[in-house]
Amino acid sequence: MTSIAVIGCGKIGEALVAGLTAAGVDPANVTVSNRREERSAELTERYGVTAVTDNSEAATGAEIVFLCVKPDKTLAVAEEIAETVNDNEPTSTVASMAAGVTLGALEAAMGAGAAVVRVMPNTPMTVGKGVSAIAAGRYVDDEAADAVAELLSSVGDVVRVAESDMDAVTALAGSAPAYLFLVAEALVDAGVSLGLRREVATQLAAGSVAGAGAMLEQEGADPADLRAAVSSPAGTTVAALRQLEESGLRGMFFRATEACARRSAELGAVDEEDEGSGEE
Ligand SMILES: NC(=O)c1ccc[n+]([C@@H]2O[C@H](COP(=O)([O-])OP(=O)(O)OC[C@H]3O[C@@H](n4cnc5c(N)ncnc54)[C@H](OP(=O)(O)O)[C@@H]3O)[C@@H](O)[C@H]2O)c1
Repeated sequence: MTSIAVIGCGKIGEALVAGLTAAGVDPANVTVSNRREERSAELTERYGVTAVTDNSEAATGAEIVFLCVKPDKTLAVAEEIAETVNDNEPTSTVASMAAGVTLGALEAAMGAGAAVVRVMPNTPMTVGKGVSAIAAGRYVDDEAADAVAELLSSVGDVVRVAESDMDAVTALAGSAPAYLFLVAEALVDAGVSLGLRREVATQLAAGSVAGAGAMLEQEGADPADLRAAVSSPAGTTVAALRQLEESGLRGMFFRATEACARRSAELGAVDEEDEGSGEE
């Protein structure tokens, strides 16, 4: 079984560990590293994984090293573990989950010939329902890219994309659960405004979002067809949909995703400038 290191086990690192261990990955093959010992202890207790506070120790002997620290820390951590990773036998693949940070910058930080993959996941992988996009660097062979994809497929769908698509992917996958949670939250408030008790409104809103998601997962499902199927002529649903369209819902998503993709590109540009100037 593949040995895995997860460096920086915050929200996305923990989502990965939770999803993998729930999917049957043996915790004995997973090492996580964090700066704080109490966080490490918490992760060991929760998932049975080995937890350390030294990133290079975590990366020692790992076949796949997931970098799950914030984008502004990713290149520094890559440099920190580079020697260990390059000495590993068999060779490790480093899978960065950082928004914006480019393959070129990661390869430069890791040293010539390093096998680096960019992954843009999302937190539903906690419950095995994530969607991850992968773009492999130039030193990653098919076998190594397949190994990362196979591991991630145990916690949800995996899509291969060109690196140039990664900022758009961040807007459609990495950040999208938050938009949908906001929609659910707004529905709850709307239900309360209509006179429902908050717990009833929460149950109805969460159930509707989850149920719609399950329908979308069915083979051949198309969102436009599904929406049309619940829109009777002159009925209640079209009355609501008309309000959403007149309030500019589609335009809001165009603008929101553009802002997200722009921010992802900015995060990468900042890291590359820092790398060039040698700043910490
Ligand atoms: N959250 C998402 O939904 C999501 C989705 C897609 C991609 N991502 C990407 O995932 C990455 C992590 O995001 P996140 O939301 O999980 O952030 P987070 O919750 O802040 O987790 C980052 C973790 O890294 C630890 N850390 C910081 N510096 C470290 C170091 N030098 N060595 C080892 N560990 C260190 C932090 O520990 P401390 O608590 O000690 O600071 C924290 O536990 C980002 O690059 C982000 O772009 C996130």
